[in-house]
Amino acid sequence: MKILITGAGGFIGQFLAREFLKDPSNQLVLTDIVNLAVPKGSLNPQNAKLVKADLSQDQSVITKDLSAVYLFHGIMSSGSESNFDLGLRVNLFTTLRILEAIRQVAPGIRVIYASSEAVYGRPYPEIITEDIIPTPEGSYGAQKLMCEVLINDMTRKGFIDGLSLRLPTISVRPGSPTAAATSFVSGIIREPVQGKECVVPIKDRSFPSWVCSPKTLIVNLIHALALPSDALPSHKRAINAPGLLVTIQDMMDALAKVCGEDKLLHIKEVEDPELGKILHSFAWKFNNKLALSLGFRPDTSFENAVRDYVEFLEFEKNPS
Ligand SMILES: NC(=O)c1ccc[n+]([C@@H]2O[C@H](COP(=O)([O-])OP(=O)(O)OC[C@H]3O[C@@H](n4cnc5c(N)ncnc54)[C@H](O)[C@@H]3O)[C@@H](O)[C@H]2O)c1
Repeated sequence: MKILITGAGGFIGQFLAREFLKDPSNQLVLTDIVNLAVPKGSLNPQNAKLVKADLSQDQSVITKDLSAVYLFHGIMSSGSESNFDLGLRVNLFTTLRILEAIRQVAPGIRVIYASSEAVYGRPYPEIITEDIIPTPEGSYGAQKLMCEVLINDMTRKGFIDGLSLRLPTISVRPGSPTAAATSFVSGIIREPVQGKECVVPIKDRSFPSWVCSPKTLIVNLIHALALPSDALPSHKRAINAPGLLVTIQDMMDALAKVCGEDKLLHIKEVEDPELGKILHSFAWKFNNKLALSLGFRPDTSFENAVRDYVEFLEFEKNPS
């Protein structure tokens, strides 16, 4: 199977590519605007082709022999909020151009779009499902929703076979802090584990987040590839990917339990009104019955996500 991953130099793209490369029958095209590499420790690295390109200008990575495309390129929530033009160009216009190129060059293939729970906005009902009308409160969520609508319409027309997975915040994300307002949701574990400071921008420890571990995310992204097209109506292609509800206190407890109480000393709680505005607009109470009925998997505990991260650090030290 030949699979294209956009934004493949980013966190999710690298994790997914490593997983796909375990199967020697997969051919990958990994593309990003930055220099990218085959993920460390990948099996069959010869099966990955690397293409550095600005997809807003150049869609030549779309070729007729592709079987599927994962769309991961993007500017995150606080990045799109602080730079409206950049967010619009990358999150909306670039995605539209890629979808149009797929329609012209490789019509009908499976397209898996990384949308976000940021498509929702207040006031929230008691429980959120796909039946709730999304009313995003930020540019990021608005751009995601606009792409979802086009994916619905292009799927209905048979131009693509699209699915939009509205992802929770992924935690624990390795690497550096990001331009996502939710960056601290990984930082609160990642930084202390490495003896570094994490600033939590909200002082209320009961503040809730809707999260998913990288391991579960990858299982679900691969599951989406094989989902029969008629599992959803052709004009309703968005699914809320399963998540787990955790508070700041829950995350601190998991850190202390898995890595030791002393790690909590690296956490500083400093209210940030600008970030707080975005964070308080995010939804956190979902019912994932649609995703679960389609075979997507939930996380079982946040502690496991912390353990996965510690294991990942070990793997990074010795990837072979
Ligand atoms: N990580 C999360 O918690 C989360 C949650 C919800 C949704 N998502 C979505 O999932 C996708 C992947 O997330 P991630 O965490 O891997 O993000 P990331 O920031 O790590 O990766 C995004 C990649 O897109 C690339 N990119 C930006 N502009 C580009 C352009 N013009 N052409 C080509 N590539 C370009 C960047 O260089 C980067 O490598 C994003 O679309 C994001 O909005 C992520």
